[in-house]
Amino acid sequence: MLSVEGYVIVSANGMLADSNHVMPDVLKFPEDQAFFEAALDRSDLIVHGQHSHEQQSRSNERTRIVLTRRVEALAPDPAFPNATLWNPQRASFKQACEHAGVTSGKAAIIGGPAVYALFLDRYDVFWISQAHGVTVTNGLGVFPQVPIHSPQNILSRHGLTARETRVLNAAQSVDLTAWRRG
Ligand SMILES: NC(=O)c1ccc[n+]([C@@H]2O[C@H](COP(=O)([O-])OP(=O)(O)OC[C@H]3O[C@@H](n4cnc5c(N)ncnc54)[C@H](OP(=O)(O)O)[C@@H]3O)[C@@H](O)[C@H]2O)c1
Repeated sequence: MLSVEGYVIVSANGMLADSNHVMPDVLKFPEDQAFFEAALDRSDLIVHGQHSHEQQSRSNERTRIVLTRRVEALAPDPAFPNATLWNPQRASFKQACEHAGVTSGKAAIIGGPAVYALFLDRYDVFWISQAHGVTVTNGLGVFPQVPIHSPQNILSRHGLTARETRVLNAAQSVDLTAWRRG
């Protein structure tokens, strides 16, 4: 009943953050940020780790699940309104969704790497923006297995196929590809 979609922007070498685990400005493009914000506005649930809050103007209106090992299983998050803290080793995603009060519609998975990896067999679509002109040295890959394997190789091995690509910023070689299941 709940569709699962991933969203990320990576460098040419598959990195989503720099060596300090901070998303660098060279990965911030207005076209991608507009796409991302519009997609979250159409989502019923946002799912992310402790360091990947999207920090947008409408964030407080969104229902979210925040992954952490600091709770027994499930608990309200005192840090954000409408948020559930979820320890995936102690409760299922279904239980977390029920705690959050969202059991249908669309869940947007927005990182970081361990969170993206947790849903690799569940994505209906994984939206990957890529800045082909940007290389981030010693950065944090979109999945833990990057850069040993490319993000595309990992998505493919988990049953996803690149279906459509659109150019977001031609001058800076940024595009967006939808990897769909089946
Ligand atoms: N370029 C992009 O599109 C993009 C997308 C997403 C994130 N980022 C960037 O990536 C950086 C954050 O990376 P990060 O690795 O620190 O990611 P993160 O997943 O946001 O935060 C990691 C923390 O989340 C919790 N967590 C994550 N996976 C878990 C699991 N399987 N089970 C339980 N808890 C889990 C843990 O919290 P506890 O310590 O509380 O247990 C962990 O310490 C930020 O700079 C962010 O801006 C960039």
